Amino acid sequence: MSGELKLAAARAALERVEDGMRLGIGTGSTAEAFIRLLGDRVRAGLSIVGVPTSDRSAALCRQVGVPLTSLDDCPELDLTVDGADEIGPGLVLVKGGGAALLREKIVAGASARMTVIADASKLVDEIGAYPLPIEVNRFGFEATRRAIERAAARLGLSGTVAARMRDGERVVTDEGHYLVDASFGRIGDAEALSRALLDIPGVVQHGMFIGMASEALVADARGIREIRV
Ligand code: A5P
Repeated sequence: MSGELKLAAARAALERVEDGMRLGIGTGSTAEAFIRLLGDRVRAGLSIVGVPTSDRSAALCRQVGVPLTSLDDCPELDLTVDGADEIGPGLVLVKGGGAALLREKIVAGASARMTVIADASKLVDEIGAYPLPIEVNRFGFEATRRAIERAAARLGLSGTVAARMRDGERVVTDEGHYLVDASFGRIGDAEALSRALLDIPGVVQHGMFIGMASEALVADARGIREIRV
């Protein structure tokens, strides 16, 4: 069911794509559904170029024939289509479950518009139930992790702040950093937490996307809900 809903959201986003567009291309299973549909359209003659937000998405784009470029060659994009881990009020997003938040945020920031695609399980009244991914420099990791705990505590937030692990090793992002997942349960003032995190020297970026999404296309059993700020 969830797979069908992701596909429905991806299909709705494809309707936003026009010939000649420069696209930011997201990461995750919903974005992958979009990439496959986009590949079908390209093979049928649509002309677009895409900037992928992860090595994984880049590989899938190559596999299905979506032409790729980079932000160096194409620094301004028309539209980014990407998934999310949570979609909160005001289209504040939590992203980074797929470890791609830094490239995702850079690509979204270079785009005139960002369309978020998701099934309805991602819609929340308050962000923070999904652990907030934070991309952290490898140098000084433990000091940075503790600084994140202290910064959160000053905002009244507590919970596990832990390195993301896979097979007993810290996960390394495509940009060569570690990830921390912060299980605060609720975030409350996202802007205050954003500022506090970005003030920590070892924090590269966090997974809250504030004021970046133009719309969300959210699929449930009844159809597609279009949410704008
Ligand atoms: C990748 O880092 C994330 O931001 C994804 O966009 C997010 O995890 C959504 O993934 P799914 O579409 O697989 O739920």
